[in-house]
Amino acid sequence: MKGKRRKKLTGEKIFYTAPVRGEIPSPNFHAISVSKKVVDLAMVSTLPMGLHNSGDNGLIWVNPFQALNMDNSLQNKKILIVGGSSGIGLAVAQKACKAGGKVMIASRSAAEKQQELTSLIGHEIETCSFDVTAEPESLWQIIGDIDHLAVATRPEIIPGPFAETDFKEAQKAFNTKFWGTYRLIQKGRINPYGSIILTSGIAGEKIFRNHSTMCIINSAIEALCRSLAVELAPIRVNLVSPGFVAPKPPEVEELAQNFPAKRIASPDEVADAFIYLMKSAYITGTSLAVDGGARLV
Ligand SMILES: NC(=O)c1ccc[n+]([C@@H]2O[C@H](COP(=O)([O-])OP(=O)(O)OC[C@H]3O[C@@H](n4cnc5c(N)ncnc54)[C@H](OP(=O)(O)O)[C@@H]3O)[C@@H](O)[C@H]2O)c1
Repeated sequence: MKGKRRKKLTGEKIFYTAPVRGEIPSPNFHAISVSKKVVDLAMVSTLPMGLHNSGDNGLIWVNPFQALNMDNSLQNKKILIVGGSSGIGLAVAQKACKAGGKVMIASRSAAEKQQELTSLIGHEIETCSFDVTAEPESLWQIIGDIDHLAVATRPEIIPGPFAETDFKEAQKAFNTKFWGTYRLIQKGRINPYGSIILTSGIAGEKIFRNHSTMCIINSAIEALCRSLAVELAPIRVNLVSPGFVAPKPPEVEELAQNFPAKRIASPDEVADAFIYLMKSAYITGTSLAVDGGARLV
């Protein structure tokens, strides 16, 4: 089945199986069937690396993971940021707009903050009122297909000893950060060449006394990331694990003097990692710590 590489492909049509959910393409070309969808080659004609002539019936075989992941620009890409109305998510929205993306922010208050968010970001954005603890189908109906999803929702957690933790409160936090993310992705409409970026936190890796709830949630998010990187491929799934991000009270700023970086992070610095992961076509299933080394000391 190995054939010579074709040079001029524009204008031709190929039979190509789009890698859709539930039909995970094998990286081995031979395993991909070829009759499901006709794709205009204009879309992939700039990506000759993944294209091969089958040689016998005129069909061209495509390695979708390779071909579709090679366009790493965010220009005109549809980027949904759930939890993008403040903090890290807002900084991701700003950077994604600057990179030319079409940004949509979804959160409980996003729609009512439309004007405020647009002026903070300095670009036109779409907003959608959405509670991540609710069924996500209506959100996806409004938003449609997207290229990249970033999730940066933060649950309310009152730190305290495990023995005194209110079970219902812990469950609520899980519903927001973990199950909310889980359901959102399960019903998600993400293009096969796109990516998902989750947010955990170094409290998933380093144990901070009295923060068991956040520790468990972040660890679960990290496991979800690795599982989905395998199951949803060629969609890439990665996560950013922030350390201590501004604003923080003075005692935390003081604590940060002990970190290798000797300070806390700005939301911008964490957002850089999201943009990097969106654009990195060969990174999947990875956790990127942005903590100035805080987890090491
Ligand atoms: N900041 C840090 O130091 C730090 C450190 C480690 C990890 N993290 C993680 O990074 C993520 C972002 O944190 P952040 O500090 O940027 O938080 P933040 O500024 O409080 O922003 C949280 C975002 O989540 C949204 N949100 C909360 N509950 C929601 C719900 N039920 N449905 C939909 N959206 C919801 C909020 O919007 P609405 O209120 O409008 O819904 C807001 O846009 C969190 O997962 C957090 O655990 C943060």
